[in-house]
Amino acid sequence: MATATPQHILTIVQAIESLSIPDSIAYLVSLFPNQVTFSSSFSFEDQLIAHEILSHQLPVSIFTLDTGRLFSETYSVWISTNERYQSHIKAYYPNNELLEKFVHTNGPNAFYESVEHRKACCHIRKVEPLKRALSGQAIWITGLRAEHSAVRENLPQVEWDEANQIIKYHPLLHYTTEAVKAQIAEHNIPYNPLHDRGFVSIGCAPCTRAVRPGEDFRAGRWWWEDASKKECGLHEK
Ligand code: ADX
Ligand code: SF4
Repeated sequence: MATATPQHILTIVQAIESLSIPDSIAYLVSLFPNQVTFSSSFSFEDQLIAHEILSHQLPVSIFTLDTGRLFSETYSVWISTNERYQSHIKAYYPNNELLEKFVHTNGPNAFYESVEHRKACCHIRKVEPLKRALSGQAIWITGLRAEHSAVRENLPQVEWDEANQIIKYHPLLHYTTEAVKAQIAEHNIPYNPLHDRGFVSIGCAPCTRAVRPGEDFRAGRWWWEDASKKECGLHEK
């Protein structure tokens, strides 16, 4: 198995510069066979990337972090994706001992009480399982887009993730919402019906609400918190 290093990044950036998304992913697979993985939260973006991977039969594993608190609509789009593409999206779950201890000590909805509790919940339900999902992988494909937030605006499309010792690739980084939606419609890709009800960025049910027209993309995530704290740790440096 090859090990990804920050030195691979320049080579990758130059190689994929003028390639389509499926060709870029195929190139990454040729560099790191069996070590390219894609994380899906079943958002609009993730559904488009899943479509590219699955309809081109690219040998990329797809996983989701099932926090146990997702919307029922999210589970439905997970099922319709597997049905449409005959896929088996793998789920990673929180460590039961960590979660049982946390809920026993702080209650099931502790995330509303403090940023510390919210971050601890995100760590147990998302970040720790993510570490297991990325173990042994070289490339992590995500659906991050620049439009999502000020932090994401400045991301490079291919970047080194020091915390996970992996190369991240964000194929839709510079896509607009309209461009993503147009592709979803054109290819009749299954998507989360919550997007039609004002939900833009969709995470766990107790921590996500719809946004009003003109509101920020991430206004509906952890809406009771200060805007500067709105990351769950998956993509924090
Ligand atoms: S988060 O950090 O605020 O939760 P966001 O919802 O914007 O992330 O999603 C950005 C990308 O992170 C997604 O396109 C996906 O690649 C990954 N991601 C987020 N949540 C999950 C999840 N529950 N399972 C797998 N991947 C996820
Ligand atoms: Fe917990 Fe909310 Fe984070 Fe989901 S988004 S892991 S419920 S704090």
